[in-house]
Amino acid sequence: MILTDLPTAIQRSDFASDFLWGVSTSAYQIEGAAAEDGRVPSIWDTFSATPGKVRDGSSGAVACDHYHRWEEDLDLAQAMGLNSYRFSIAWPRIFNGVDAEPNAKGLAFYSKLVDAMLARGLQPWCTLYHWDLPQYLEDRGGWANRATIDAFLHYADVVSKHLGERVRHWITHNEPWCTAMHGNWDGMHAPGNKSLPLALQVCHNVLVSHGLAVPLIRANVPGAKVGIALSLHPVKAASDGAADRQAVLRHDALRNRWFLDALYGRGYPELALQLVGRDAPQVLPGDMEAIAATMDFLGVNYYFPEVVRDAPEQYPLRTSIVYPQDRQRTDFGWEVSPQGLVELLERVARDYPAGDLYVTENGSSYDDHLDADGAVNDTARRDYLVRHLAAVRDAIAAGANIKGYFAWSLLDNFEWAEGYLRRFGLTYIDYPTQRRILKQSGRWYSAFLQAE
Ligand code: FCB
Repeated sequence: MILTDLPTAIQRSDFASDFLWGVSTSAYQIEGAAAEDGRVPSIWDTFSATPGKVRDGSSGAVACDHYHRWEEDLDLAQAMGLNSYRFSIAWPRIFNGVDAEPNAKGLAFYSKLVDAMLARGLQPWCTLYHWDLPQYLEDRGGWANRATIDAFLHYADVVSKHLGERVRHWITHNEPWCTAMHGNWDGMHAPGNKSLPLALQVCHNVLVSHGLAVPLIRANVPGAKVGIALSLHPVKAASDGAADRQAVLRHDALRNRWFLDALYGRGYPELALQLVGRDAPQVLPGDMEAIAATMDFLGVNYYFPEVVRDAPEQYPLRTSIVYPQDRQRTDFGWEVSPQGLVELLERVARDYPAGDLYVTENGSSYDDHLDADGAVNDTARRDYLVRHLAAVRDAIAAGANIKGYFAWSLLDNFEWAEGYLRRFGLTYIDYPTQRRILKQSGRWYSAFLQAE
């Protein structure tokens, strides 16, 4: 299928025949069934129940009811012509206490989910941690307590042994920046702390838990491919002035290089360490080596570039994010910049020995409406998708080794602190009835994937 009504004609045959075409989802955002089959509360249940934390006062208690409707959802993914599917495991379904035995019902749910993916020709991509820490672990210090690293490794061990014969692709953590910084610095996400040193310690411990999980998963799963999914942003200067250009370097040092440098064996960037000073995390001997465990791929989650200016009053980076008026934006206010994706992928491929790259999330939120005729005409989201796929194609042409693309997301879902106010799905969820309606964007993706 060649699109002529968009600036960028694009077709599936522009990509390698073994390119992975997927969608991404996460457990807390879609599953619901919060108290079923032995699941215990996660930090997101607690956070959502705290007044003022989630904008519409909602929670993931029901969400898309995927826990009961998973067959329909996987049917939809199959019908779209996808060949891969990224999901996450809810840790609180697997362990209900510190010394607990694994919960057989929790394991059984993911086992049948994975079987159903395989039966539909969807390659399972399993994320172990997509932000839903069991509350009982938070109660003893959460990720800032190194005991949580051990708990994570035990959880990773049990799950990878259980699913490993069928799941070859493993993502340890989704977006450690968000876990650490939104969770503990700006407090926008669960558990809602507001302390930079705490956030940096969480960040470090999460990265250590990642690094230690890599060999463990490989030992359990012959032929496993293990990586991490980072939320990365190209960083742009608000002006051509020297001060703003310096601000870019400082912002990038913590926002992107903190993760990339550490994961690829270069330690935390000197510039970032200087800026955070005494708030730097405690690093034990062997930690940096652990974090730098060789990965099989890097997952890049891309949404928008960040534009920064010099802001001497802002501790610790002395930068401030700005939102120039002249940019195209989604209804969420996020800048639409396919060029940012090209630049980001080229940068990662150029600056780091990352090997295979996957876009593990990319998508847009618009205020969709169900039309009287039952359709959802999300033309803006379709265009976003087309233009970002063209960006992936261009980055490949420029030499970046990109092997797959996972759109965020299959379904509208619980968008964290925004609740149900933001819709990212290729499929519309009519929440009162839980009816699934493939949007124009989803129909486009499907036609693109199934065109001759
Ligand atoms: C990412 C998250 C994902 C979703 C999208 C919109 O940061 O990984 O769960 O919320 O943003």
